[in-house]
Amino acid sequence: MRFMLRTHTCGQLNKNHIKKTVKLCGWVHRRRDHGGLIFIDLRDRYGLTQIKFDPDKNKQAWQEADKLRNEWVIQAEGMVIARPEDMINKKLSTGEVEVEVEILNILNQSKTPPFEIDEEKSKEAGEEIRMKYRYLDLRRKNTMETIIKRHEFIKFIRDYLAELNFTEVETPMLSKSTPEGARDFLVPSRLQSGNFYALPQSPQQYKQLLMIGNIDKYFQIAKCFRDEDTRGDRQAEFTQLDLEMSFVEQDDILNLTEDLFTKAITKIFPEKKILFQPWLRLEYDDVMLKYGLDKPDLRFGLEIQDVSKLVENCGFKIFADAVKQGGVVRAICATGAAEFSRAQIDELTEFVKQHEAKGLAYIKINQNAKCKMQNAKIQSPITKFLGYDLVYKIVEQLKAKTGDIIFFGADKKKVVCESLGHLRNRLGSILNLIDSNSIALAFVLNFPLFEEELENGHFAPSHHMFTSPREEDVKLLDKNPGKAKSYQHDMIGNGYELGGGSIRIHNRELQEKIFNIIGFDEKKKKQFSHFLHAFEYGVPPHGGIAPGLDRILMVLMNKSSIRDVMAFPKTGDGRDLMMDAPSEVNEKQLKELGLRIINSTEL
Ligand code: AMO
Ligand code: AMP
Repeated sequence: MRFMLRTHTCGQLNKNHIKKTVKLCGWVHRRRDHGGLIFIDLRDRYGLTQIKFDPDKNKQAWQEADKLRNEWVIQAEGMVIARPEDMINKKLSTGEVEVEVEILNILNQSKTPPFEIDEEKSKEAGEEIRMKYRYLDLRRKNTMETIIKRHEFIKFIRDYLAELNFTEVETPMLSKSTPEGARDFLVPSRLQSGNFYALPQSPQQYKQLLMIGNIDKYFQIAKCFRDEDTRGDRQAEFTQLDLEMSFVEQDDILNLTEDLFTKAITKIFPEKKILFQPWLRLEYDDVMLKYGLDKPDLRFGLEIQDVSKLVENCGFKIFADAVKQGGVVRAICATGAAEFSRAQIDELTEFVKQHEAKGLAYIKINQNAKCKMQNAKIQSPITKFLGYDLVYKIVEQLKAKTGDIIFFGADKKKVVCESLGHLRNRLGSILNLIDSNSIALAFVLNFPLFEEELENGHFAPSHHMFTSPREEDVKLLDKNPGKAKSYQHDMIGNGYELGGGSIRIHNRELQEKIFNIIGFDEKKKKQFSHFLHAFEYGVPPHGGIAPGLDRILMVLMNKSSIRDVMAFPKTGDGRDLMMDAPSEVNEKQLKELGLRIINSTEL
């Protein structure tokens, strides 16, 4: 297809185009004046091309060019010529040529931008200013490449699923508030005054209803909204690849997800090394024991081990008491960390305290340790309480060697898991064990159906309330729901939860029973009446998953924030600095909606 304003892009010209007359359009990236000649690096989405204005060859174009400033938008017509040998720029795809401009059209002028559209220089500009002028930030090569990669990744997913007979169905944005998960974003209704829509936290109910509606295989690149605090890997508005299938077992969903993402990553991010092929499929209990967190970074080892049995009767009161009180003592061997200074260990101790731990006992296996006791290699503030026999048993169990440190956590299981899990991640990075070019993908399976029992005797679902218990555990629901395991599956990668899903309940009685265990009263159950009614009309067994696309792209592109892979992200406190949203609305709008703004003191 030919376009009228330009014949080529700024990333296209090379030696083959020499002597051709071309038209280019773009922004003035940089201007240099050399002995009467004006050189402009012209930039568009595809690259940079040097264009040249020579007063001896074309005075009028040169005079016009003299006015040009950074970020002005121009159209330049002229002949492609070879650059002199010593002027060739090997870093640029267009670096062997330049365009000698005959006609210059200034299409638009620009104010001096608040930051330079240049990779290096724009780093100095703070994130706030880049967010406020996001349209300028998008002009940067890095940002633009991110957005294009995102498009390619999502296109691959769409094509793959369409090939397998999945139907892309859009589900409503104006939906219903139901008591689940995070806080809803509410939208007041004008026509049904006093009533509210809710923006979907995910299309969960819709996709299940689509299965009841015989769509069989559904997917959607779905916008989800959760009114929760944003973090590095969390935005209030984000995108899932939401998918659901009828007549499937859990393995069908896992196999499809694995194949899809392995192929998508291989094609769109060929530089990424996928560490486990096939992906690991791990048991939740095992994961919690070995890694402390349910989304471990599997790019490195440093597995946690339980030493409760060894220390239950030891002379170190903190350990013995932890076990006696029903807690655990667990240890992690930090390979090669014996070099850590006292200050570093203190810093790690403060770090685990942020995760509720009370301290961080350790044993250094240090060749140079000045220790008078049995074996000069051990250095630890707790050896005197444990005794050397026990210390050596621990060293043996952890397979620790000279140069290592063993760190301990002693407390309630939850605290030990959490603190040692985060410590493990921290050690992985301090000890340089993480290869940023690789991705370690896995599924975590066999989650408990519910989280710990609440004080009121009810339970919160560990995934969501539509997740099916494992068949063999249905009988536990009456007497011991806390012990039941579910058909939840999490997709994890590099220390992040990348996706979640499950086989769903497809039986009305069981769904109601779960609502009861969660503690739904009649009013709350009524909010789901549409769902329960639908369950009376023949529900196929079904299940699905929803990988979070922003988070996956953040990990694949080694970004530290999810904001970096979104075209128009919001700040940590939920503001769109460019649009200045959220914003006040006028009295008339409020009146139409039957709303009045009151001060928080009036509440
Ligand atoms: P879940 O709530 O586990 O499951 O979400 C699935 C995935 O969505 C991503 N995600 C987020 N990404 C960015 N910002 C957020 N605030 C955010 N919250 C979640 C994560 C997460 O793994 N309906 C179910 C899925 C199902 O059962 O099929 C659901 O939404 O990557
Ligand atoms: P203390 O007797 O409090 O000086 O503690 C001795 C060592 O045990 C110190 O290194 C503490 O950091 C560590 N410690 C204290 N409480 C715990 C705990 N609950 N788990 C692991 N280590 C601990």
